[in-house]
Amino acid sequence: MNELRFPLIIVNFKAYPEVEGEGALSLARACAEVAADAGANIIACPPMVELGRVASSVRIPVMAQHVDDRVPGSATGWTTAEMVRRTGAIGSLVNHSEHRLNLDDIRSALSACKRAGLKTCVCADSAITSGKVAVYAPDMVAVEPPELIGGEVSVTNAKPEVVVEAVHAVHQIEPSIPVLCGAGIKNGLDVKRAIELGAKGVLLASGVVKAKDQRQALRDLIRFI
Ligand code: G3P
Repeated sequence: MNELRFPLIIVNFKAYPEVEGEGALSLARACAEVAADAGANIIACPPMVELGRVASSVRIPVMAQHVDDRVPGSATGWTTAEMVRRTGAIGSLVNHSEHRLNLDDIRSALSACKRAGLKTCVCADSAITSGKVAVYAPDMVAVEPPELIGGEVSVTNAKPEVVVEAVHAVHQIEPSIPVLCGAGIKNGLDVKRAIELGAKGVLLASGVVKAKDQRQALRDLIRFI
């Protein structure tokens, strides 16, 4: 379960009310059930406070939404990579658009994750930033134009060139780093298009978390892969 497999769907639960308390576990179980039924690769990113409970309850990989560059010890209120690893999570998002870091802090967070044996998915707001963060050798880069996050229009329709350019920028630095895309992804056609554009998968949130039927939304996402 530690190996990353593609094509990959990462479901970021964010901090939506739907995933408070039991909601996180229930969504993670839906992800696990759909992944098992369809043989699909789905990673769940629950809120930090539910990370341990979710990671110990489902048989799909789980990642944190953020990790702090702090060493274990006097670090009140911070979340170390070691603590994330101990929950059973396999990795962490880094530099999500809603939890931005500067380039130095991204580099440090990646070092902390490597030290603890965590996989990393670094988010980037553009193709140029995607290339810059690829230099730090993350396990994945996810490009997400901020203005499309949480909206109704998918990056694959509104800005397909950003996905193509991000893949190019990352692969100029290191061809083996998989690039995902996100923002407004809602359905299987969006995922199919993402892959046609060169992405190895998608990072999404509202399309699943806020769906009336989360299982159905997940099934639809993977229907062409
Ligand atoms: O982390 C995923 C994200 O920022 C995209 O959100 O709601 O547009 O799928 P959403």
